[in-house]
Amino acid sequence: MKKLLVTGGAGFIGSNFVRHVLDNTDQHVTVLDKLTYAGNETSLGGLPDERFRFVQGDIVDAAIVEKLVSDTDAVVHYAAESHNDNSLQDPWPFLETNIIGTYTLLEAARKHNKRFHHISTDEVYGDLELDDPERFTDLTPYNPSSPYSSTKASSDLLVRAWVRSFGLQATISNCSNNYGPYQHVEKFIPRQISNVIDGIRPKLYGSGENVRDWIHANDHSSAVLTILEHGRIGETYLIGADGEKNNKDVVELILTMMGEPADGYDHVVDRPGHDLRYAIDSTKLRRELGWTAKFADFESGLASTIEWYRNNEAWWRPQKAATEAKYLALGR
Ligand code: NAD
Ligand code: DAU
Repeated sequence: MKKLLVTGGAGFIGSNFVRHVLDNTDQHVTVLDKLTYAGNETSLGGLPDERFRFVQGDIVDAAIVEKLVSDTDAVVHYAAESHNDNSLQDPWPFLETNIIGTYTLLEAARKHNKRFHHISTDEVYGDLELDDPERFTDLTPYNPSSPYSSTKASSDLLVRAWVRSFGLQATISNCSNNYGPYQHVEKFIPRQISNVIDGIRPKLYGSGENVRDWIHANDHSSAVLTILEHGRIGETYLIGADGEKNNKDVVELILTMMGEPADGYDHVVDRPGHDLRYAIDSTKLRRELGWTAKFADFESGLASTIEWYRNNEAWWRPQKAATEAKYLALGR
């Protein structure tokens, strides 16, 4: 493969993948991104002009999608509405982008017979009890909880159907919670880091016992490239780095690392339908494709993420006030 089309490449994880591909391969990358409130072209600053191109556009727009898909070797599909809290306020953009957008891309990939990799989430599997010894695998039944996760589950099922019915050359990956630089301040870790920088007490939903399985975005990117290059067509690979932590521990760690008292946070009203625990078993990816996580030390990844938000206030500052105003209206 020489040319990649990356949808959603101006978002948190998509931009990380674009940098990873340009740094580690000789491939050419075109990004298709609508630049919603979550997209930021400056996350793609400084990339080599001769191998990188940015196109602003909507994955629901069949004309632009077909033109770009016809001119690529493979599509890596990151574009999505990605935030659970937003999906509880207004589900429609999630249906439009995550379902119709994925359909539009699949049809173009089918027509032009292109390799397709679909980026998805562990949230399609619902949640686990805190003491459940089992973790999610690609055989776990789908059981999504929120409008966001149900649209991601829908998009996964579309990809599976296009593989089986039309022979599309596709793979799927379902990853756990990512953290790292360039993540929007609406999300848990950057929200709390930027709150501490602003002298605002971090906000913990409910009791804070909810567990997320953290992985550094750099490890997600290396896993996706591995699957794109070596994954078996039609297969689903779960991506995770054995990073389970409850939210309370993460908030306390952020406060301590930033020189504040560990108990300097507030409990706020819980998210409706809040999933209790996610946990990924990534044995298939590790055994079959030989992938390993290189950034699995959460404390050092968190320290460098805190450092990045301290040093890159110009990147996140424009979103901060509007994001907090939205949360305030929800009592969170
Ligand atoms: P993000 O919200 O930071 O970025 C999404 C990007 O998609 C933005 O640049 C946005 O402008 C773009 N976009 C949205 N609608 C579009 C449309 N209609 N057409 C073109 N571009 C559009 O999201 P993220 O956290 O980087 O997540 C990227 C993907 O990874 C999503 O598919 C998400 O479901 C998946 N994922 C995320 C995580 C995580 O922890 N963040 C974990 C597993 C999977
Ligand atoms: O598991 C993968 C998913 O991880 C991705 O598919 C989603 O796109 C991504 O947004 C993320 O979903 P979560 O809902 O888990 O992430 P979020 O950052 O919104 O919240 C993480 C946890 O922190 C969750 O239990 C809710 C809690 N939380 C969140 C915020 C914003 C708080 O306690 N306080 C907060 O202020």
